[in-house]
Amino acid sequence: MSFFRGRRLRQNKSLREMVQETYLRPEDLVQPYFVVETEDKDFCQEISAMPGQYQLSLCQLEQRVARAVDYGLKSIILFGIPKQKDDVASSAYHPQGIIQKSVETLKRKFSDLIIITDVCLCEYTSHGHCGLIKNQYVQNDPTLELLAKTALSHVMAGADIVAPSDMMDGRILAIRKALDQHNFVEVPIMSYAVKYASSFYGPFREAAESAPQFGDRKSYQMNPANSNEAILEAEADLKEGADIIMVKPALPYLDILRRLKDRLFCPLAAYQVSGEYSQIKAAALKGWIEEKAVVLESLLSIKRAGAKIILTYFAEQVLKQKWL
Ligand code: PBG
Repeated sequence: MSFFRGRRLRQNKSLREMVQETYLRPEDLVQPYFVVETEDKDFCQEISAMPGQYQLSLCQLEQRVARAVDYGLKSIILFGIPKQKDDVASSAYHPQGIIQKSVETLKRKFSDLIIITDVCLCEYTSHGHCGLIKNQYVQNDPTLELLAKTALSHVMAGADIVAPSDMMDGRILAIRKALDQHNFVEVPIMSYAVKYASSFYGPFREAAESAPQFGDRKSYQMNPANSNEAILEAEADLKEGADIIMVKPALPYLDILRRLKDRLFCPLAAYQVSGEYSQIKAAALKGWIEEKAVVLESLLSIKRAGAKIILTYFAEQVLKQKWL
C-alpha cells in the first residue's frame, strides 16, 4: 500500500511554487539578430517565415538593441549578411566587415551587454557551405585557418564570446590557439559542439541568405539519428578548449541535452532554432495555441533538460511582455 499522493503538493499556487525546481531568468536568454551590410540606414525587413524577426541595418540594430536592453536583455548573438560573397568568404574576416563593425559600435554603446558572434563561413561563401570547397566537397583542414581568422577579427572588434557553428573537426583548437597567441586568453568559446543536420534551420537560411547552393550539410553536421556521437563531439571540444557546449536544435533534442548534463560539468547551451520559432508563431497567429504559455513551457523544458543558456528568437518578446 502506497501513501504517495502527488496532488498534495499541487493543491495551491504557494505549495506549487515552493517545490518548483526550474526557473527561467533573463540572464539565461540570448537574442539572435541578423545585421545586413548596407548603405540604407533605415533598412529593416521582416523575415517572411519568422514573423517578428528582421534583417536590420547596423543603425536599426542599434536602436532595436537599445530597446531590448531597456527591457532587460543581457546577451545577443549576431549573424552577418555581407554585400559580397566569394569562394573564400573574404567578408567573414575583413577587419571592417559587417560583424566587426557591428560589434565595435554596439560594444561602445552597451558595455554590459554580452555580445556573442556566430563564427561560420556559410553566410559569406558564394556556394553557401560552411567551409572551403574542392571537388564539390567541404575541405576540413584548409577551412580551420579562415575560421580562426574570423574569430580573431570578431574578438579584436570587441566580441565577448565567439561561437563557432561550422562543425569542422579541430576548429575549437585552431580558434583557441589564434586567440591565445594574440593575448585573448580570457575570451570564452561557446561551441556549437552538438549541431545536427536539421530541417528546422530552413527559415534561418532565408534570414541569413545562407542556403547551400548544391548538396546539403550532412557531411559535417550530425545525423539526427545519433546520440553517442554527441558525447564524442562535446568531449573533444572541451579538450580543445571550449568553455560552453551547445546543443542545436533544442526541443527535438532534449534527450541529448539530458545525457550531456549528466556527463559533463561545463555550462550547456541550447539553440531554439528558426524552425522551432516559426512553428510556434504560425500556430499562435492562427489562434491554434496560446503563444505565451507555449513559449514559456518550451523554454522551461529546455532548461529542465539541462541547458543553462538558451539562444531563442523569443528572448526580446519574453522580456518586453514581462513574461518572466
Ligand atoms: C550557420 C548557422 C546556422 C544556424 C546557426 N548558425 C544554419 C545552418 O547551419 O545551416 C541555424 C540557426 C537557426 O535555424 O535559427 N552555420
